[in-house]
Amino acid sequence: MGEVFERRALGGRNHLLEISLPKGDFKALGRFVRLRAWPRLGLGPGTLLDRPFSIHRAKPGLLTFLIREVGPGTKILTSLNKGDQVRVIGPLGQGLDDLEPNFLSQKWYLVAGGAGLGPMGSLVEALGPKAKLFYGERSGPDQVRLDYLKSWFKKSSQENIVATTEDGTGYGRPGLVTQPLIQSLALEKRAMIACGPKGLLAALAKIAQQNGLRYLALAEERMACGLGVCLSCSLPKLDGSNFRVCQDGPLVDGLSLDWESLRA
Ligand SMILES: Cc1cc2nc3c(=O)[nH]c(=O)nc-3n(C[C@H](O)[C@H](O)[C@H](O)COP(=O)(O)OP(=O)(O)OC[C@H]3O[C@@H](n4cnc5c(N)ncnc54)[C@H](O)[C@@H]3O)c2cc1C
Ligand code: FES
Repeated sequence: MGEVFERRALGGRNHLLEISLPKGDFKALGRFVRLRAWPRLGLGPGTLLDRPFSIHRAKPGLLTFLIREVGPGTKILTSLNKGDQVRVIGPLGQGLDDLEPNFLSQKWYLVAGGAGLGPMGSLVEALGPKAKLFYGERSGPDQVRLDYLKSWFKKSSQENIVATTEDGTGYGRPGLVTQPLIQSLALEKRAMIACGPKGLLAALAKIAQQNGLRYLALAEERMACGLGVCLSCSLPKLDGSNFRVCQDGPLVDGLSLDWESLRA
């Protein structure tokens, strides 16, 4: 069982939740945990199932999550206060250091759509100036505060943040996040890691294919059993097999998934 160390509002429906754990020196880098907390009076009946969240940052004895409120489970988690108890199961999944041993030695484009920003904190921390972050939202009120985003980077590499809002109402540029990414690719080809809605992950698969790039996706599917049994989190692969996000992921070779059948 963990205990809330701090919860901070970060703009829109986004919150930073820091949970202290009695023991554990965890690595983040794409891994996730399942969290469950119990509602305060007046917050409704709560949820029976744990909810999966990427580890945003990890320090010995302290895990941090970037959580967007979208429903009953996240409403409870984003209403917690210092000292509240949270059940933490994990860390789960394979990390970038498992799948990509040369991860730290190369430059990456990190692409986040909406709540897909969650796993990017630890990746930027590990890569430093080798990371260029593309962060897209629909609208300004959804954005995580810019001062928080800037705090991930040293002053000298803050130009490595490229933010967009589709409707042009936030900081950064108007339009889709893929537009400045394509412009950057014309100047410098890099491998990509992405997390966000399926439409974005599918569009990035096309861009990666056209440019001959390594492309890793952090898939976020709704989960039920979390044990690889119910297949509710499975995504179709081009070879006809299923990729179970809870057991095989969440990190996946983005070119191995059948994005077309997901769209259908
Ligand atoms: C491996 C993994 C890592 C994740 N990391 C983060 C993170 O770092 N930060 C964060 O804010 N969220 C993250 N999520 C998504 C998060 O788990 C869901 O938002 C949460 O479970 C919703 O619970 P709820 O009870 O609040 O809403 P629900 O009532 O369960 O859902 C509310 C709405 O959100 C949609 N939704 C629910 N789960 C998902 C999902 N997995 N993907 C896309 N849409 C979903 C539903 O379709 C519905 O429209 C992650 C999911 C996975 C699988
Ligand atoms: S949640 Fe049941 S198989 Fe993944």
